[in-house]
Amino acid sequence: MIDIVGDGLSLKCIAILSGINECILKEYVISNHFKTLKSHKTKESKFSISDSKNIINGLQSEKNLQILKKKFSFYNFKGGVGKTSICFQLSSHIALMGYTVLVIDADPQAHISTSFGFLPDNSYLTLYDLFTKNASFNDIKKNIFEGFDLIPSNLSLTRLESVFYKENNSFSKLSEVLSSIEKNYDFIFLDTNPTISFLNRSVVFFSDVISLVCETQPYSLNGLKILLEDLNNFYVHAKIEPKDINIIPNKYEYKAVSSAEAMSILRKFYGKYIKEDFAIRKSEDFNISAKIGKPLAFFAKKNSIALEDISDLIYQILNKYTYYRNN
Ligand SMILES: Nc1ncnc2c1ncn2[C@@H]1O[C@H](COP(=O)(O)OP(=O)(O)O)[C@@H](O)[C@H]1O
Ligand SMILES: [Mg+2]
Repeated sequence: MIDIVGDGLSLKCIAILSGINECILKEYVISNHFKTLKSHKTKESKFSISDSKNIINGLQSEKNLQILKKKFSFYNFKGGVGKTSICFQLSSHIALMGYTVLVIDADPQAHISTSFGFLPDNSYLTLYDLFTKNASFNDIKKNIFEGFDLIPSNLSLTRLESVFYKENNSFSKLSEVLSSIEKNYDFIFLDTNPTISFLNRSVVFFSDVISLVCETQPYSLNGLKILLEDLNNFYVHAKIEPKDINIIPNKYEYKAVSSAEAMSILRKFYGKYIKEDFAIRKSEDFNISAKIGKPLAFFAKKNSIALEDISDLIYQILNKYTYYRNN
């Protein structure tokens, strides 16, 4: 497992994540005697994960948070569009803000597990073991840091397909298997692989919101129409209400005509699924992050566009799917 617990967050990153002004953070940290991490190599002062959460919580007045939708899957038949990268960043940064989060790796290729430092071998248990009742949830979950858990994956997930068919299971089986642990988390994020499998269908069934990640290339949008049609057919087949759909345009490049073209196609044909004028910009930070297995906030420079875009996306989710109840 990767060691991110020993790393800390700078006040700048805490400010970006929490939306709290850096000067206010500084004053709060000094007056409450929070200690910076000693062993850090950079000049910048950093705070431990639990202190970062305490700082954010301390400055946000007590509120009765209601979460309207908690289960988000990242989906597309296309590979390489950024599903895993966005799932990795979104889940870890929402957890750093103090929400309790579970990530489920539903891709047998285990890319997100690898990013979290779990190399895909058969030594750990996966969704397969939960599903076949070989293990309980507590046996399979891995803790990344406080309030942030992962169900890792490996090739065992490919065997789930035959189990699904042999036992003539319905798409609701995954939801049943996960129903008892749902309440332990504020948010659950699921990473999928680009196939039409029983497992992916079950993930769609389980999800409240389906985030369709796509590249901002006109050719890359061709599949979107088919993808949406396929989802609609599935809702009818499975006799379920349509899920919320968000399209997340990724790898946007300012000066590229193709990116601008892709955004105008999205606005014209898929306007109701996107936030106008938002796309995740292309940034080398995403590649570095996956390679070193650390979420952006642990290493990104002060002016990281990647971290800026990920926090923007987090606030879109929080604004749309949570509210504070007065009582
Ligand atoms: N916004 C981005 N800017 C630059 N590279 C990106 C961005 N998003 C993803 N990538 C890179 O694209 C590649 C594919 O991303 P990945 O998340 O693995 O896609 P998927 O899960 O859809 O197959 C990876 O090398 C990843 O680092
Ligand atoms: Mg992936």
